[in-house]
Amino acid sequence: MKVKVKVPASSANIGPGFDCLGLAVNLYLYIEAEETGETTSVKRCPNTPKEAANLLQHSMEELFNLIDYKPKGLKLNIENEIPIARGLGSSSAYIVGGIVAAAKLAEANLSQQDLLNLAAKIEGHPDNITPCLNGGLTASFSEDGKVYASKLDLHPDFQFFALIPNFHLSTKVARGALPQMVSHSDASFNTSRTVLTLAALKNGDADLLKASLDDKLHQNYRIPLIPEYDKLFNSLQEIEEIACYLSGAGPTIMVITKESEKTEAELQKALNNLENPWGIKKLHPDLQGAVEL
Ligand code: HSE
Repeated sequence: MKVKVKVPASSANIGPGFDCLGLAVNLYLYIEAEETGETTSVKRCPNTPKEAANLLQHSMEELFNLIDYKPKGLKLNIENEIPIARGLGSSSAYIVGGIVAAAKLAEANLSQQDLLNLAAKIEGHPDNITPCLNGGLTASFSEDGKVYASKLDLHPDFQFFALIPNFHLSTKVARGALPQMVSHSDASFNTSRTVLTLAALKNGDADLLKASLDDKLHQNYRIPLIPEYDKLFNSLQEIEEIACYLSGAGPTIMVITKESEKTEAELQKALNNLENPWGIKKLHPDLQGAVEL
């Protein structure tokens, strides 16, 4: 038995939607898994560090344990185009890829909800896991081991550009920078803007999006961890037709716009002023999520 699965990258938080909103985008992790009856072997591409391959194998084991399945010798082949530790959901992709591949391999009788619950348990929060598994723009939360999730409308005119630096930021470190407590006013700042961000994304309202794509729960605490973030963010604020946010835990900045060609040139100009190399990737929403090929 051999399976091949394709799993998308994802951009979480989307401004004010900390630990809740996420969007699947078209950068992919590919996993080929075969039960050979021999010893386990793992072939990984250069963009898959050992820890990522371990996370994938651990996720497969969690799925096998859940259904009490004992695989006989696995051969894994991993190809990955998702930048690692950049705020584009690479760890969720390895988790989702692992459990989906394992479920297919074992022909497990599990629902999408079962897979979602298991993947979110491994990751610890569901905001990347949900779009990665289900595709599209999603909102989710976990309670008592169950993920409650919904796909949301996204206007087709919006374009996405990921500004990706050449340095990493681990989610663990970026979560460690967050305070234990926030004020009531900061919480309500985010609640109102989350609702209006979703309305703007649904209706294609770029002006409302620019106003509402703001946050007081995580971005400010993480800025000191990202070299030249202030400088870049300030020049991005001057580009009229864009809205932007820190993708996941960072350091990638995601730009949303309806004016793609002019914007790309202006973004490049902003990046040219920085000392660290940052790249631009034009991305599209992935609407399918994890699929078997
Ligand atoms: N919501 C998460 C965070 C996404 O901001 O820490 C990164 O995994």
